Amino acid sequence: MIESNSSRVDQMTASSTAGSPLIRVQNLKKSFGDHQVLRGFNLELYPNENLVIVGKSGSGKSVLIKCMVRLLVPDEGELFVFDQSVPDLDQNELDQLRTEIGFLFQGSALYDSMTVRENLLFPMRRHSDRLRGEDETSLVEEALENVGLLDAIDLLPEELSGGMKRRVALARTLILKPRIILYDEPTSGLDPITGKEIIQLILEVQKKYKTASLIITHDMDCARVISNRMIILVDGVNYAEGTYDVLSKMTDPEVSAFFK
Ligand SMILES: Nc1ncnc2c1ncn2[C@@H]1O[C@H](COP(=O)(O)OP(=O)(O)O)[C@@H](O)[C@H]1O
Ligand SMILES: [Mg+2]
Repeated sequence: MIESNSSRVDQMTASSTAGSPLIRVQNLKKSFGDHQVLRGFNLELYPNENLVIVGKSGSGKSVLIKCMVRLLVPDEGELFVFDQSVPDLDQNELDQLRTEIGFLFQGSALYDSMTVRENLLFPMRRHSDRLRGEDETSLVEEALENVGLLDAIDLLPEELSGGMKRRVALARTLILKPRIILYDEPTSGLDPITGKEIIQLILEVQKKYKTASLIITHDMDCARVISNRMIILVDGVNYAEGTYDVLSKMTDPEVSAFFK
C-alpha cells in the first residue's frame, strides 16, 4: 500500500484557510433537457491542495470540470477561477485562463498521427506568447523527463502503453506550467500497478510545480493516497465533505458505499 497523503492534511488545512481560493464554485446548476445533473454544487480549491471529488458514474463529475474551463456553460450559479468569473470571460481572457489550467481528460486525448514530441509542441504553439523566448526543444524534453519518458519522444501514441499515454498527456499539460491541474479519472482504464505509478507521478508533479489539483475519481485507493480533502457528489450536490479518514468512518450509506 502506498502511504496516505492525509498526514499532511492538518498542515494543508492550516495553510488553506490563509490563502484565497483559486477556484470558487457556488450553487452551480447544469441540466441537459429535463435532466438536472448539477443541482447547486459548491467547492473551493485552495493553493497547493489536492481536492478529490468522488461520485458515481454519470453523477456529473466531468460536467463539473468541463464548466471550469468553459467546455460547458452552467445554467446558474457562480464559477470563479483566479477571481475571474468564467462564464463572463471574453475569448482572449478564456484563452489566457486555459493556459493556466491544465486539463487531463478522461483517457489521454493524444493526437494519434503525431509523435510524442509533436503532441507536446502543439499546445506550446497555440500559446506561444506565453512562452516567448523559451527554447521549445528544452521545454519538451524537460516536461518528458519529469514524467520519466524522455526515451519515448519520437514514438507515436499507438506505440505507447496506457500508462505511458497518460504520462505524455500529463507532460503536455505541464509544459505550460499551469497553476491548477484538473484530472478527470486519472487512473481509469489502467491496471492497478500502473494506476499507482500515475498517482505517485501526480504527487511528484504537485510538489515540484506547486500546482493545486482537482482530481475526479471513483478509484478510492487513488483518493486515499492523493487527497488532502474530499467532496462526495450525490444527486448533483455536495453530499459530504472531509478528509478521507473522516469520510471513510461515516456510517451514512450514501457515503460508506464508496468505501466498500
Ligand atoms: N453534452 C451533453 N449533453 C447531454 N447530456 C450530457 C452531456 N454531457 C453530459 N451529459 C449527461 O450528464 C450526466 C453526467 O455526465 P458526466 O459528468 O459525464 O458523468 P461522470 O460523473 O461519470 O463524469 C450523464 O447523464 C450524461 O449523460
Ligand atoms: Mg466522467
